[in-house]
This record gives sequence, C-alpha cells and structure tokens, in this order.
Amino acid sequence: MSTMENANPGRTDTAGMTAQYPEMAGKVAVVTGAAQGMGAVFAAGLATRGVSVVAADINEEQVVATAERLTAELADGDRAVRPGRIVGMRADVTAPGDHEELAQRALREFGRIDFWVNNAGIFPFALVDDISPEQIGSTLRVNVEGVLYGAQAAARHMEPGGAIVNMSSVSALRVRKGRGAYCTSKAAVAHMTESLAVELGDKGIRVNSIAPGYIDTAMTRWVQEDPAALAHALEVVPLHRLGSPEEVFGPLLFLLSDSARYITGHSIAVDGGSRHV
Ligand SMILES: NC(=O)c1ccc[n+]([C@@H]2O[C@H](COP(=O)([O-])OP(=O)(O)OC[C@H]3O[C@@H](n4cnc5c(N)ncnc54)[C@H](O)[C@@H]3O)[C@@H](O)[C@H]2O)c1
Repeated sequence: MSTMENANPGRTDTAGMTAQYPEMAGKVAVVTGAAQGMGAVFAAGLATRGVSVVAADINEEQVVATAERLTAELADGDRAVRPGRIVGMRADVTAPGDHEELAQRALREFGRIDFWVNNAGIFPFALVDDISPEQIGSTLRVNVEGVLYGAQAAARHMEPGGAIVNMSSVSALRVRKGRGAYCTSKAAVAHMTESLAVELGDKGIRVNSIAPGYIDTAMTRWVQEDPAALAHALEVVPLHRLGSPEEVFGPLLFLLSDSARYITGHSIAVDGGSRHV
C-alpha cells in the first residue's frame, strides 16, 4: 500500500490502466480542486487523452505549479495522442462568479467546454455537540453550493452532449461519528446530481456522481496516521486496501465518455465495497 508521502500531486501514468476513449481528444474540461489529490490525477489523465483542462483550486500557487508540472511531463516523450494543455487558475467554488471566470477562461484558451468535474471538497471533523456555525456553513458552502454553482456555469456554456461529474462519497450512504456535516453535504451532492440530471437533460447535458470510499490522498491522511483507524479500514473494506486516485479516474473517464451517453443521474461507488459494511 502507498505510504502517502505527499498529497498525490497528480500523475501522468494513467494511460495503461484505463480505456483510451479516442473520441475525447480535442475536448475541454474544467476540474475543480485540482491542485492535488484526485483533481490533479483527473487533470493529468484527461490531458493524456488529448483533453485540455482548466484546473481550478482555491490554492492558486499550488494549482498553477501542478498545471505547469503536468503539462511539462506530458510534453516529454512520444505519445499516441497529442496531450491536452492544462492551465491552472485560482477559483473559490463557493463564489458563483469564480465559476463564471473558469468558464470564460476555458472558452478563451480552448474555445469550448465539454466536461465539468465538481471535485473540490473539504472534510471537517466535529462532533454534533461541538460543531460550530462556521464549520457547518463552510462545509455546505464548499461541498454543496460549490457543486451547484459549477453546474450552473457548465449549463450556461457547455456544448450539447456535455457531461458533468460531481464528487459525492460513500459518506452519502454511511454515517461516521464526527463527520455529520460532511456526510450531510455528500448526501446532498448525490441527491442534487439527480435533480440536475432531470433538469439539464433538456440541454443534452448528462450529470452523474462518483462516491469514493477510502482513497489515498491528503484527505485520508488521518487514517494512515492512526494505526487503529488504518487497521479498522483494512479490516472492514471488503477489498482490504485503500483505493488510489487513478482507480477513481477510470470510472470518471467512463462517465464523461460517449460510452456512458445514455447514463445520467447515476452514482458510481468506487469504494472497494465499503458502502456495504
Ligand atoms: N480521499 C477520499 O478518500 C475521498 C472519499 C470520498 C470522497 N472524496 C471527495 O473527493 C474530492 C477530492 O478529494 P481529495 O481526496 O482529492 O482531497 P484533497 O484534500 O487532496 O483535495 C481537495 C482540493 O480541493 C481544494 N479546495 C478546497 N476548498 C476549495 C474551494 N473553496 N474552492 C476551490 N478548491 C477548494 C483544496 O485546496 C484541495 O486542493 C472531494 O470532494 C472529497 O470530498 C474523497
């Protein structure tokens, strides 16, 4: 298992482990929360398949550095598909205007928007007795409002046939002590995905969500750093290991691709079976 020495700053080696979907080359994606973790891996994996990406994060310095590093890595070496370009940009997903700026940047740099991945999220710990108005407010603003404002911007500017994917969680289905605000927010994302799918179908836009379990990123560092929590996770997850961001990328790619063109309002669990325990 990975030791999580860093926050999964994004890898470009997703080519071998997932399908290629050649129809995606030349398309354009916006990915939020892309400075590190799953968002960075998503940006790299899409660019490997010829998709140009606006990579957004509240951490401007990190997302710009990640985008530059990934673009340089992709330019290095022979590839079957000409890689897309990745541009990094600051955006706070709680601000509707920042989503509009992301859309305008994508249109200015790349001329179109086909995919929008609402990936940014926060994972606070607070027991019900202690949770503060600020904690519940920020969790709902980032994890729930952030998805809605992203979908609104996507719907305003996306090409017909476009696809939105929202990051929900196994926490939408299973509750955990101290994660009440997070679980509530991710259940809202799962439900909102269905509402958005019903409404945006009129525009030919599909909306789906992914519900990861324990994935090896900075967000699950607390599991790796607490031997009891790690032992518990390895015991209860039916596949007895944490997942990698690359293992979430494959289902993301499928949901964005033409292979999923009659799938909307659906959630794919990528959790090693942990929603059942
Ligand atoms: N890692 C897991 O095990 C796991 C499990 C289930 C769901 N998820 C969800 O997957 C998504 C990605 O998680 P990750 O594990 O890669 O986390 P991560 O913490 O590594 O990355 C999250 C990114 O979101 C950014 N972000 C936070 N607030 C923001 C804001 N207001 N505006 C813009 N960007 C903001 C952070 O700066 C960070 O770069 C999240 O929505 C998370 O809730 C993760």
